[in-house]
Amino acid sequence: MNPSATSVPDLGAIFEPVREALGRVEQEFARHLESKVDLIPQMGRYIQMSGGKRVRPAVLLLSARMCGYTGDRDVLNAAVVEFIHTATLVHDDIIDEAETRRGRLAAHSRWGNDVTVLLGDYLYIRSMAMALTQDSLEVVRLLCEVTLRMIEGELYQLTKMGDGAITEDEHLEIIRRKTAYLFSGCAEIGGVLGNCTPAQRVALREYGFNLGIAFQIVDDVLDYTSDEAVLGKPIGGDLREGKVTLPVILLQQRTGPDVADLIQRVVTERQVTPEAWQTIKGLLATHGAVDAAYERAVTFAHSARTHLLDAFPSSVERDGLAALADYVLQRDR
Ligand code: IPE
Ligand code: IPE
Ligand code: MG
Ligand code: MG
Repeated sequence: MNPSATSVPDLGAIFEPVREALGRVEQEFARHLESKVDLIPQMGRYIQMSGGKRVRPAVLLLSARMCGYTGDRDVLNAAVVEFIHTATLVHDDIIDEAETRRGRLAAHSRWGNDVTVLLGDYLYIRSMAMALTQDSLEVVRLLCEVTLRMIEGELYQLTKMGDGAITEDEHLEIIRRKTAYLFSGCAEIGGVLGNCTPAQRVALREYGFNLGIAFQIVDDVLDYTSDEAVLGKPIGGDLREGKVTLPVILLQQRTGPDVADLIQRVVTERQVTPEAWQTIKGLLATHGAVDAAYERAVTFAHSARTHLLDAFPSSVERDGLAALADYVLQRDR
């Protein structure tokens, strides 16, 4: 995807300053899955062990420690944001009818939609109950806000499903809501815990927001360029789901009605023949549309980095957050 990239930055190295805390996040995550109803820990463990990257908890922990926080509420809140993210993914896979996630059966493919909807609900409410065990209503309010934005983003996206003519602005509004706000909340909560200055709080919010937009654009690019075995979810899923994302929006800005008709047909029928897929991939390459989408992600990731570096002095945590902006651009899964 990125021809100049030599290797994907190692997430383990980026997370090193918070490695021990991330271990405690896993314990916290498992602890809050305990229930007398066996299905909850059973499904919860299956999802917990499936290899999620834990990017959001790491952003929260690195931000908190960068701001000098030394307590243990960062671990609690990091588990909360991973619960919220997990709830979103199990619901998202039902909505998108995506059979696989993280290289194995999605929860609903294994347990069915009815049970999986309820597990998602459980995780959402549980996350808020966990958040309420701390005395800061400010953090709980922030968590509610970003979660509501995310659900609005998923709903707004549904209203645009099958719309081949979605505009770049409309699409950006979807990804800001469904992905960027949660990243932004993770960074900002870290700042709140660490009692950062108001200017630093704005910088953290902007860092997370821009990082999240870049993260989602790259996710959408990977849907065209990656390999299912690496990505852990099928390639070409977005078009088959009726979802037109940035590469195809930019392609249509560069081409005429024939391409628009082809795209509209695919997203209306919700299937892509091998021939149509090859044609679309060829068009994306010829018109530089994937590269152009990727360049947008580069701009957002650089903006994330600049907000961070302008507001905080050097530290291992800051350097980890800055490296994460590079990782997001070079990741392959
Ligand atoms: C997937 O997020 C959903 C998007 C916002 C694109 P991640 O890529 O962080 O998912 P996991 O948790 O690592 O599987
Ligand atoms: C991201 O959207 C899901 C949310 C942030 C709610 P996608 O639908 O692109 O995520 P994947 O590709 O299924 O992981
Ligand atoms: Mg999806
Ligand atoms: Mg996707």
